[in-house]
Amino acid sequence: MVHFLAFVWFVLPLLCILGSTSAGYVTTCSGIVRMRYRRDVISLTDFGGIGDGRTLNTLAFRKAIYRIEHLSRSGGTLLYIPPGVWLTGSFNLTSHMTLYLAKDAVIRASQDTQNWPLIEPLPSYGRGRERPGGRYMSFIHGDGLRDVIITGENGTIDGQGEVWWNMWRDRSLQFTRPNLIELINSNDIIISNVVFRNSPFWNIHPVYCSNVVIRYVTVLAPPDSPNTDGIDPDSSSNMCIEDSYISTGDDLVAIKSGWDEYGIAYARPSSFITIRRISGSSLAFTGIAFGSETSGGISDIVVENITLVNTATAIFLKTNAGRGGYIRNITVRGVHLENVTKAIKFAGDVGDHPDDKYDPRALPVVEGVSISDVWGVGVMQPGSMKGINGAPFKGICLSNVNLYGWVPGAQWKCTDISGVALGVRPWPCAELAATHGTGACSLRVLS
Ligand SMILES: *[C@@H]1O[C@H](CO)[C@@H](O)[C@H](O)[C@H]1NC(C)=O
Ligand SMILES: *[C@@H]1O[C@H](CO)[C@@H](O)[C@H](O)[C@H]1NC(C)=O
Ligand SMILES: *[C@@H]1O[C@H](CO)[C@@H](O)[C@H](O)[C@H]1NC(C)=O
Ligand SMILES: *[C@@H]1O[C@H](CO)[C@@H](O)[C@H](O)[C@H]1NC(C)=O
Ligand SMILES: *[C@@H]1O[C@H](CO)[C@@H](O)[C@H](O)[C@H]1NC(C)=O
Repeated sequence: MVHFLAFVWFVLPLLCILGSTSAGYVTTCSGIVRMRYRRDVISLTDFGGIGDGRTLNTLAFRKAIYRIEHLSRSGGTLLYIPPGVWLTGSFNLTSHMTLYLAKDAVIRASQDTQNWPLIEPLPSYGRGRERPGGRYMSFIHGDGLRDVIITGENGTIDGQGEVWWNMWRDRSLQFTRPNLIELINSNDIIISNVVFRNSPFWNIHPVYCSNVVIRYVTVLAPPDSPNTDGIDPDSSSNMCIEDSYISTGDDLVAIKSGWDEYGIAYARPSSFITIRRISGSSLAFTGIAFGSETSGGISDIVVENITLVNTATAIFLKTNAGRGGYIRNITVRGVHLENVTKAIKFAGDVGDHPDDKYDPRALPVVEGVSISDVWGVGVMQPGSMKGINGAPFKGICLSNVNLYGWVPGAQWKCTDISGVALGVRPWPCAELAATHGTGACSLRVLS
């Protein structure tokens, strides 16, 4: 522990300075998961699919995927979805398959909630995220899979979430809403060149997964659609997300790892995640979020070259007493902002609890967070950084942060945090400003 802390304190601020110029960083997700060419190709129409936007194709999807699973061909099988609107209930994917959406192919979710089966809650959440008990299975679902590719020519997966948003709005939801796509316990996943639209709840939710690449995707939902997070890596590792546009009604990317006592017991962290070249907007919520569910721990995250416009909070680290776990070794560099209410926010009092069995003494550890090369115009508030009394956030490093357009009198607000700042405008709070002005923040830390 002592060694780790020393390392964070000495090396992280150094990275904060060197990060943007050092060579040798891998700058693409290519090659992390093999993009497989599949010789065996079947079409949804071979299984009775009709793409007229009215016929229900649930059976066609199930038959096609049954065929892939049970008549497995070496190298796997590509399921081709031709141009057309393919209405369907939810379905499960299988291993060694590519779901390929042609240009102008739309896989559209049925709005008949009868078509949405219930499944068990995730063990790291203990219950549905918004309602107690089970939850609706995601529209496109996978559990225990490997070697799955979802790609094509930018066809659309459309959740038709409106009915679900309305049930949330009028409080008639009985169980937690379905995600658009959820992969559980799965490895070697590529999701690329697909448009995700109008998810009932979170859009893309990899949970207990590893080796996941998500690139060249577009994720869209109206700014007022409730809880339509873009991509939520959850208790997953070795993930790479890049070159995507996300504009939804909630956080664009939110890294999570389980909820309070359930997440602490399940102890499955999110780690080694790279997020780069993402752009988008979230009018009421966050660009890149860490938490608030981080009970299994999150660490070793790099976020690079993010562009956010018309967004409430650009970078948000959120946790709460009762969460336990940790948030450590987080590097954010290269953030471009336009019309943002608050650039940077850290809060140790955010998010609700699954039930009253959580332990309020389970305080999260937050240490080693470096944010550098941030530039923004039309930024109303620079930021607030509020740790937890008794569990202050440590090793916070801000460098080369230049924000303009703030409302008169706007200033950083900090409590229960410590760290360093270099080249931060407007002038940072006293908790960080001690090292402002001369030399590298790493040298100041050493002295
Ligand atoms: C991030 O942007 C900077 C400045 O434009 C550029 O030099 C760097 O290569 C970019 N890095 C990545 C990973 O895109
Ligand atoms: C799909 O997967 C879920 C969860 O693993 C399972 O409960 C359900 O029976 C599966 N449905 C089909 C049609 O195989
Ligand atoms: C699909 O969308 C991606 C990401 O927006 C873009 O880079 C790519 O050129 C598009 N491809 C086609 C075939 O339109
Ligand atoms: C921090 O995370 C980066 C990126 O994942 C990793 O390369 C590095 O080894 C980590 N540093 C420490 C001190 O764990
Ligand atoms: C930011 O706000 C200004 C003033 O309202 C507006 O002119 C500009 O177009 C906005 N920028 C973006 C990217 O929407």
